[in-house]
Amino acid sequence: MTATKIYGHRGCMGTYPENTLLGFQKAIEQGVDGIELDVQLTKDGEVIVIHDEILDRTTDGNGYIKDFTLQEIKEFSAGVNYEHFPGYDEASWGAERVPTLKEVLELLEPYDTELNIELKTYLINYEGIEEKVLSIVEQFGNGRKIIFSSFHLPTLLRIKKLNKYAEIAWLLDQRISHPQDYIQSLDLEALHISKQVALSDAFYLKDFFEKIRVWTVNDKDEIKQLLDLNVNAIITDFPERALFYRSERKS
Ligand code: G3P
Ligand code: MG
Repeated sequence: MTATKIYGHRGCMGTYPENTLLGFQKAIEQGVDGIELDVQLTKDGEVIVIHDEILDRTTDGNGYIKDFTLQEIKEFSAGVNYEHFPGYDEASWGAERVPTLKEVLELLEPYDTELNIELKTYLINYEGIEEKVLSIVEQFGNGRKIIFSSFHLPTLLRIKKLNKYAEIAWLLDQRISHPQDYIQSLDLEALHISKQVALSDAFYLKDFFEKIRVWTVNDKDEIKQLLDLNVNAIITDFPERALFYRSERKS
């Protein structure tokens, strides 16, 4: 039986600024099996790694990503707002910039870390983002396992149409009655479901756990429950914690 994989959510956003090169580097150092990140498109069509459609929460800029060029976005700090979290370290975190997808893939180059690219196309129609993401992955992915996920199903179907070998996963935060039907009819590699759904519906999802990754699981007991259930992967803000509980089970 394959052990549940541990994916760092937005890097390891529980302890380092989310979706930054620093956070991804730290997650790799902690020993994650994979990294989850979010992508959006700038005004000049660059794929950047940032969770929100606006700059306000995670950077010291304001406004929609789609209204700024990459060069303009690079002026802002992607770490300075992280002061709300324990262990604030302005000196190093303030220097972090919003990375491009290409920069993250270059950082990952020496490692065999898996990558989950979440396309944030649910609220904004980023024309052509699917083609751009696939092209960047083709150039800089280095053959690593890459999973494309989205809440927006048409994005996943576009990805699959562009590349039939692409591994797609649908993000769901609501109950589903027939997981196998989604997986088979949409040719999904997996479903990425919220922990609330995974834990409440475990009794009938159990036959599909090898095709289910669960987000965002930070609580010790929930991590342990999902390890017991042997889901394919846990996506967590605190990968170090999840890796520790997984290692405890092996010894
Ligand atoms: O991909 C899992 C998770 O990241 C989905 O929610 O809002 O954190 O991107 P969100
Ligand atoms: Mg995400």
